[in-house]
Amino acid sequence: MSCILYNGDYLTKDEIAISFEDRGYYFGDGVYEVFRIYNGKIYEKEAHLHRLQRSAAGIQLTLPHSLEQFAQMIEQLKEKSQIEEGTLYLQVTRGIAPRSHLFPEQATPTVLAYCNEVQRPLKKMRNGIHAITLPDIRWLRCDLKTLNLLPNTLAKQTAAERGVDEAILHRNRTVTECSASNLMIVKNGTIITHPANELILHGITRQVVLRIAEQIDIPYQEEPFSVDDLHQADEVFITGTTVEIMPITVIDSAHVGTGTPGPIVRQLQEAFERTLPTPVHE
Ligand code: PDD
Repeated sequence: MSCILYNGDYLTKDEIAISFEDRGYYFGDGVYEVFRIYNGKIYEKEAHLHRLQRSAAGIQLTLPHSLEQFAQMIEQLKEKSQIEEGTLYLQVTRGIAPRSHLFPEQATPTVLAYCNEVQRPLKKMRNGIHAITLPDIRWLRCDLKTLNLLPNTLAKQTAAERGVDEAILHRNRTVTECSASNLMIVKNGTIITHPANELILHGITRQVVLRIAEQIDIPYQEEPFSVDDLHQADEVFITGTTVEIMPITVIDSAHVGTGTPGPIVRQLQEAFERTLPTPVHE
């Protein structure tokens, strides 16, 4: 993390002082995006920026720049950071003001962004991961990518403490998504995933996967399904910017299907690979 974009300046870690009065700090009052950089290119940049705009509008936060300006800023950040494989984190808070639940009348949103070098989780994508189910205790606007992630971090921490990688969340036994990824199941050759409503984040990878499924003729349904359906699924996998398309082979200590990644997730992974930017050779 050599270079950090903070309110228009490209700085080093030591040069940044975050105000204790930033509303992101007090209230989690802000929105964010995590982009993936493959072969030096920002993957699905426009889709992420549009979601940022939608999330900001959802909490009545006026973004301080146009999406074109944001696009230029993050491109410049990526160039300065010289990242080929990694992630780019971007967050915008409502700004700095004395602590009050009411929105400040005058505050300039704080923009923070940086890149991290991250390797693709190829081994886990090949072998699959284990998960547990947990109640979804989040609010009713999970479609907004806000900084309020305490329920997500609690779920992820519980999963880790039980020795698994991810927590699958359910509301009254209806499966929604995971602590930091979307979830899909396969039953009799059809992919089923929770509808993109206010109970889940409308994942960019989720969208890419459904687009791919259509292209390679795998049927899918955006329908609610239960924890019992999850336990009886032939295949289960998660989707997300950092996890890509990741099979789950064990849920609540029981095998999913045969206990190994199934044929549909494999087909999707192969097709996903073809959507990635190719290396630029000089
Ligand atoms: N999280 N659902 C939740 C709750 C998430 O936090 C994420 C991503 C996703 C997948 O969305 P996408 O495909 O757009 O990455 C679904 C990011 C990576 C994070 O918070 O770090």
